[in-house]
Amino acid sequence: MKIVVGISGASGAPYALRLLELLTSDALKKDVQLSLVLSSTAEQVIALECKQGVRELGIPVFEGRDYGAPFASGSSAPDAMVIIPASMSSVAKLAHGISDNLLTRAADVVIKEKKRLIVVPRETPYSEIHLTNMLALARLGVVVMPASPSFYGQPESIGQLLDTVVGRICDHLGLPQQLTRRWGAK
Ligand SMILES: Cc1cc2nc3c(=O)[nH]c(=O)nc-3n(C[C@H](O)[C@H](O)[C@H](O)COP(=O)(O)O)c2cc1C
Repeated sequence: MKIVVGISGASGAPYALRLLELLTSDALKKDVQLSLVLSSTAEQVIALECKQGVRELGIPVFEGRDYGAPFASGSSAPDAMVIIPASMSSVAKLAHGISDNLLTRAADVVIKEKKRLIVVPRETPYSEIHLTNMLALARLGVVVMPASPSFYGQPESIGQLLDTVVGRICDHLGLPQQLTRRWGAK
């Protein structure tokens, strides 16, 4: 499965790092061909919020307006893309078909090729503009999956909180995961 992970400049970079850690784990790496695309503000936020960067993970990293990346074309569209975290600026661009950088172009390709796009928006509160844009994406079949951790599994660490969101993303990617206890499970 070809997956592109996009990181934009919203707060919530630890969610992205955790997802990347999982997708490159021994359990999943044989099934996943992973690429990473960074927006121009992503690394500023990663540096503030994470102890680790993303360049040392051994994943091919693309950025800026590098439209030479394979997934910039519908002829080489990935099976799925996850934008995590997704800024309101990137969400607005996606909702309006504005492909002015590789991250938004890649997502535009995934939408037009009717592949799976999962967007993990992070902002609070949401304005009517933000909500309207997210509704437009949902109507296009995009999975809008806010960075809203759950507490019913009684997470005891930030890592476990992150997993309540990342686990659900894996569910929507169709990847096996046992990060959190499932509701009703013994
Ligand atoms: C530390 C930091 C945190 C930010 N957090 C958010 C956020 O949670 N949500 C958001 O929409 N924008 C946030 N921003 C603003 C975006 O980075 C900014 O709007 C940027 O233009 C987004 O562009 P991009 O989507 O291409 O990364 C943050 C910026 C910084 C520096």
